[in-house]
Amino acid sequence: MSTQERAEVWQKLFADADEEIVIGEAAVVDHDAITHLACWKPPADIGRYRNLRVVISVGAGVDQVPPLPEGVNLSRTLSPRIDQMVCEWVVMSALMLHRNMVTYIDQASRGIWKPHANLMTRETRIGVMGMGRVGLPVARCLKNMGFHVSGFSRSGRPNDGITTYGARDMDVFLADTNLLICLLPLTDDTRGLMSDAFFNKLPMGSRLVHAGRGAQIDMTALRSALDQGRIESAMLDVTNPEPLPENHWAWADPRIIITPHIASVTDYEDGARHVLEVIDADRNGRIIPGLVDSTLGY
Ligand code: GLV
Repeated sequence: MSTQERAEVWQKLFADADEEIVIGEAAVVDHDAITHLACWKPPADIGRYRNLRVVISVGAGVDQVPPLPEGVNLSRTLSPRIDQMVCEWVVMSALMLHRNMVTYIDQASRGIWKPHANLMTRETRIGVMGMGRVGLPVARCLKNMGFHVSGFSRSGRPNDGITTYGARDMDVFLADTNLLICLLPLTDDTRGLMSDAFFNKLPMGSRLVHAGRGAQIDMTALRSALDQGRIESAMLDVTNPEPLPENHWAWADPRIIITPHIASVTDYEDGARHVLEVIDADRNGRIIPGLVDSTLGY
């Protein structure tokens, strides 16, 4: 999935750091010489890299990486630019839903001049699922704008004065939310999470922002929730399946706006720097940045 332009940036940053880099599987002459592998998805024959120490996902997520051979660590890219980009997309989407923009864009396409009531930010109750490095800044930013904000995370640990619910209190969290933001990683616990039963726990007329992973949402359940008025409108950056086929009903549904998984795209320089930081930490016996806990899956 890499490009020539990206390869050049990586080559330069690696040369400046006095590290050797081989770009592309075809260029690997000696598999035994490779200790660190940066990729979106590792090659199927990963076992050939007998001295591999760490696989580094060039994205924020690692759900695309299959289980690795024993002893090989997995790191996800930590990048302030990724965090910033997701935050912008999510805040934009929350504001669009809060100010009825999905409806106005549909009305505009049909030449309809029809105002709807404006809510004050404090009247919109935002629930952020996933209160980690991406979700927490989103929650803080929206709270600073005056929205009522609560969080949901596996642990339910409170964050910066933002009420955060844990897995056992999911129902209370959903009942108290009318604009739901999903930023969860894809794990066994979150696959298929947004089902009929899940949507039914939200108040009628809720709004949805989804920038987690497509496999977390049942699109048929979303359609029923929209038809029942449970969900009023949605902004999706991830879909199920992904890419969404051209003839999928959701493209033409005026209650949904879809963007093609662009909330964040790994910046070349941040990506290469993260790889160099991982190598340095690994060589010097420090904890690898972005180390994934294989039992949690993120
Ligand atoms: C994008 O979704 C990423 O994982 O970086």
